[in-house]
Amino acid sequence: MTDTALRVAPIAGALGAEVFGADLAGAVSDTLFAELHKAFLDHLVIFLPDQKISPQQLVAFSQRFGEIAPVRFTGPFDMPAVEGFPEIYQITKEPGTTGTNIGGFWHADVTYRDRPNLASIGYLLEAPDYGGDTMYSNLYLAYESLSEGMRALLEGLTAVHSSTMPHAHGVRSAAVSREHAPKAEDGQLQVVSTEADIIETEHPVVRRHPETGRKSLYVNRGFTSRFSGMSVEESLPLLHYLWTHAERPEFTCRYRLARNTVVVWDNRCVLHYALNDYYGQRRVLQRVSVDEPVRPSA
Ligand code: SIN
Repeated sequence: MTDTALRVAPIAGALGAEVFGADLAGAVSDTLFAELHKAFLDHLVIFLPDQKISPQQLVAFSQRFGEIAPVRFTGPFDMPAVEGFPEIYQITKEPGTTGTNIGGFWHADVTYRDRPNLASIGYLLEAPDYGGDTMYSNLYLAYESLSEGMRALLEGLTAVHSSTMPHAHGVRSAAVSREHAPKAEDGQLQVVSTEADIIETEHPVVRRHPETGRKSLYVNRGFTSRFSGMSVEESLPLLHYLWTHAERPEFTCRYRLARNTVVVWDNRCVLHYALNDYYGQRRVLQRVSVDEPVRPSA
């Protein structure tokens, strides 16, 4: 198969495309990577089914997107790295666990850091027979669909993002039933950060994508705490409106990550949400994240 044989098939009107014709276990030439990268920028999240890749190949592919981020989130979660591969962390949900569903709330990753993730590259090692889909939302559309007045108001604002996830704890226990929902008493819903670990940083509420030049709404339910210079009480009504707006079904796609699928999402303009609807089954995802080279800017 030649480098130009990629087939890119959108899965929804808002974002997301399946990409066929690239074998990530083989040599990923510059031409092939350029095509994959174009699909990534055009569709925001790409899915490459039927990949048989080793941890080395997952790391090598991820490095094409930029500098790999340290595995450990500095709070709120502590994740195990894959043995021998400190760049890869593994998200495992066992059949009987009601423990924390990592990623089970609308968020962009680690926006409390100065340089959040540019992209994340996931590889599904084990998939449930049903459920365990991940949803993604397009933050360009969220911004572009706001009224002119609201866009003008937001352009001048920055927001504080916090690793303590100040407003996300209530939504993180979502599940199909109360019985299968993460429970406070299992201890895993606790943030593992100590005082010294807590990171807060400020980012523009409307950011410009450094590669596409498009503006997007840059707040998320997971980590945004308040608008800079305002109290939480003053900020929350508008933040709630913006979070809910960004999560509108029309701006989203939902994908069943089958075993051996590689997913790459653009964390600069995409929210994601891992659904907790497969109690009784096992799901194992390996993930590598790549850092933005510079801070987000307006
Ligand atoms: C996450 O990284 O937030 C979870 C993604 C997934 O499990 O699909």
